[in-house]
Amino acid sequence: NTLVKTLYSQAEHDADVEVEVTGWLKTIRSSKKISFLEINDGSYIKNVQVIMDNNALENSEEIRKAAIYSTIKVVGKVADTPKAKQPFEIQASSITILGSSNSDYPLQKKEHTPEFLREQAHLRPRTNTFYAVFRIRSLVSFAVHQFLQSNNFVYVNTPIITSSDTEGAGEMFKVTTLDLNNLPKNEAGEVDSSKDFFKQPTNLTVSGQLNAEAFALAFRNVYTFGPAFRAENSHTTRHASEFWMIEPEMAFANLQDIMNTSEDLLKYVVNYLLENAKEELEFLNGAVDPELKARLEATKDADFARVSYTEAIDILMNADQEFENPVEWGIDLQTEHERYLSEKVYQKPVFITDYPKDIKAFYMRENEDHKTVAAVDLLVPGIGELIGGSQREERLDKINEKIAEFHLDPKEYEWYAELRKYGETEHSGFGIGFERLLMYVTGIENIRDVIPFPRTPGNASF
Ligand code: 4AD
Ligand code: MG
Repeated sequence: NTLVKTLYSQAEHDADVEVEVTGWLKTIRSSKKISFLEINDGSYIKNVQVIMDNNALENSEEIRKAAIYSTIKVVGKVADTPKAKQPFEIQASSITILGSSNSDYPLQKKEHTPEFLREQAHLRPRTNTFYAVFRIRSLVSFAVHQFLQSNNFVYVNTPIITSSDTEGAGEMFKVTTLDLNNLPKNEAGEVDSSKDFFKQPTNLTVSGQLNAEAFALAFRNVYTFGPAFRAENSHTTRHASEFWMIEPEMAFANLQDIMNTSEDLLKYVVNYLLENAKEELEFLNGAVDPELKARLEATKDADFARVSYTEAIDILMNADQEFENPVEWGIDLQTEHERYLSEKVYQKPVFITDYPKDIKAFYMRENEDHKTVAAVDLLVPGIGELIGGSQREERLDKINEKIAEFHLDPKEYEWYAELRKYGETEHSGFGIGFERLLMYVTGIENIRDVIPFPRTPGNASF
């Protein structure tokens, strides 16, 4: 069995050698004498054209009636056709139907809306757009691992079920085996978690960071790459309830170091795709986003901008446009602000550093001004926030103060404080939203269309 990908990778084909290809029937057109079949075998975004001489094959009538997505085995010689649209074709000496299909295939040739295709999430990977997107998803994942591993980062798997709320936003999916119709209560009338499976309240993780910090303080450079869950009721094109996050964590590293590493990582991924996903990018550039390739080329060569939150607020207050959400020092930047900065002001990715401490998480290191923390977000054109990171508070007394200030249970965070008690080591890390990264490198505008089976408020089908 020869892969279609292999046939495309060969510059010339030996007209005397027979090949055997197994794949799905994508289209068939017949004239009296000959039929043209297009077969896709999943190994490549393009189909291979098969020529059938209707009079030469015994079962040609059966083949001509075959439904789209019948499984077909073709044996034949490969002829180069330099003048035709397809660079080569298979001249079939035999065609066998290995598996039938029904004639009412819902994704017939015409264009479908993304909304319709979301309702066909089990079939949409068979379309060119989703084929390209999900092959790129796999390649980006590989490139991320390759970059980090070759830079001495250790891959660490952090727990999915946890008792902590790393980001402190309270947006957690609870995990319980208690009977919701008959919850055990204590004397105060509260749910008695000691009767639950883990004998304490648990939830799905929002981030693996706290656990990753423990490993960074043993291995120096580590990263997680896994799912994160957020029960935030955000109905936007950039929020999913289940998404994947890459979280590098580095000991002996400050905010500048993680900006450098994240910039290098993104450029590596972009370069990797420009080298290894040429057909997919070409297709998406034509079908989805005419600026995609130019944006990737520019990202590869750009020096990402770096400004402080305070400077960014100044820029926004003097902007040549009105914002829906008024700007003043202390606000959390909204998507409209983020996109103005990355699209209008800098027109490239921009790091915003040193946010007000009141709008950021408890673990971020406080700056000398006592008003801001050593936090960083990377904003990119078309999306807004792609990365969030920070230098971590490594001082034992300070982290204990923060745990109290944020009303966290000190017993719950004792192990986290002990990471400081047994070594106050400067360390920093960041989290990349994997789907947002995919939106950036595919031009796809809705996060639901870069994750195979999206979970969003009100939707967990498939
Ligand atoms: O900014 P966030 O919340 O940061 C953290 O979770 C830190 N613990 C990361 C770290 O320092 N190790 O999330 C990081 C990134 C965001 O910048 C965004 O790209 C993505 O994760 N993200 C989401 N992506 C899709 N859907 C959601 N609901 C997301 N929430 C965050
Ligand atoms: Mg963030």
